[in-house]
Amino acid sequence: MRRVVPVPVPDADVPTPLERPRRLRRSGALRGLVAEHAVRVEDLIEPLFVVPGSGVRAEIASMPGVYQQSVDRLVEDARDAQALGIRGVLLFGIPAHKDEDASSLLDPNGPVQRAAAALKRELPELLVIADLCACEYTSHGHCGLLDENDEIDNDRTLALLAKGAVSLARAGADIVAPSDMMDGRVRAIRHALDAQGLHSVAIMSYAVKYASAFYGPFREAANSTPAFGDRRTHQMDPPNAREAVREALLDVAEGADAVLVKPAVSYLDIVWRVREAVNVPLAVYNTSGEYSMMKAAAAKGWLDEERATDEVLVSCKRAGADIIITYAARAVAARLNGRRPPSGS
Ligand code: PBG
Ligand code: ZN
Repeated sequence: MRRVVPVPVPDADVPTPLERPRRLRRSGALRGLVAEHAVRVEDLIEPLFVVPGSGVRAEIASMPGVYQQSVDRLVEDARDAQALGIRGVLLFGIPAHKDEDASSLLDPNGPVQRAAAALKRELPELLVIADLCACEYTSHGHCGLLDENDEIDNDRTLALLAKGAVSLARAGADIVAPSDMMDGRVRAIRHALDAQGLHSVAIMSYAVKYASAFYGPFREAANSTPAFGDRRTHQMDPPNAREAVREALLDVAEGADAVLVKPAVSYLDIVWRVREAVNVPLAVYNTSGEYSMMKAAAAKGWLDEERATDEVLVSCKRAGADIIITYAARAVAARLNGRRPPSGS
């Protein structure tokens, strides 16, 4: 055994620091002065879930503060969002009827179509972004139409998405946001919109969407869990980064006006790479699972929800995102405005 002999530690000759970056961290005023990035209310987009009927407002169990709502109630939330300075909402529909052909996606009276029309009528300045995918409308919950072997038929799905985009745009959507990850869909959608004279309707494509565990609560919110199988044949594999750049460049070449990376927190390296590669606006989606994790930890008192949320969102900006889609949009906007959230939210 080693014998430990206590000896006094001699005074060290410590060189003074060559630089003192701490000088700029001394006070809130200094930190504010030198802050490199900031989240603006204008950067935020709030997702909203629309169901048929009226007077419906049902909280999603795994997403506290997020609701499935009928059009009348949804318009009120959108009004609150706009009053806080938020520029746009992203609509997801839960139709009354689902079938193999996703036919409700093309229904002029479908939930998203009705919501888009109502929002344009009541709040014409607010940007309406319509998510475009088959999975909320198919009985099997897959993001595309299936062939006879129950595999996704990419090219038949393109025709559906193209028609869906036209239907949503005619209803009032300013932007369509294809989230399906089929190959060639941006070109198909652009072509269909242009053929109908809908040149000014923009496409924000989910160019880089990973097959992620962080969409779990969304599938409860949108009733869109696949009845069998998973989304790995179309969504990207988490180990891949170069491929993300390829997907983003493809979508821009096909006519995407803005591209999106999803999820956010575990993919900020991807946000950075895509930011370096493309010149169009870049959005990042802070997903349902990311939101639920934050809410759950905060509810247990394990995290300071406001600080943790602000940290996540500014990291998205630091990584290069222009636009942040987040379920916390109104709470964050209220804070940025120095106001309390409006009642009921
Ligand atoms: C539909 C779609 C999903 C999300 C947005 N659009 C779910 C999925 O692909 O399974 C996820 C949103 C979220 O988790 O907040 N294709
Ligand atoms: Zn889908």
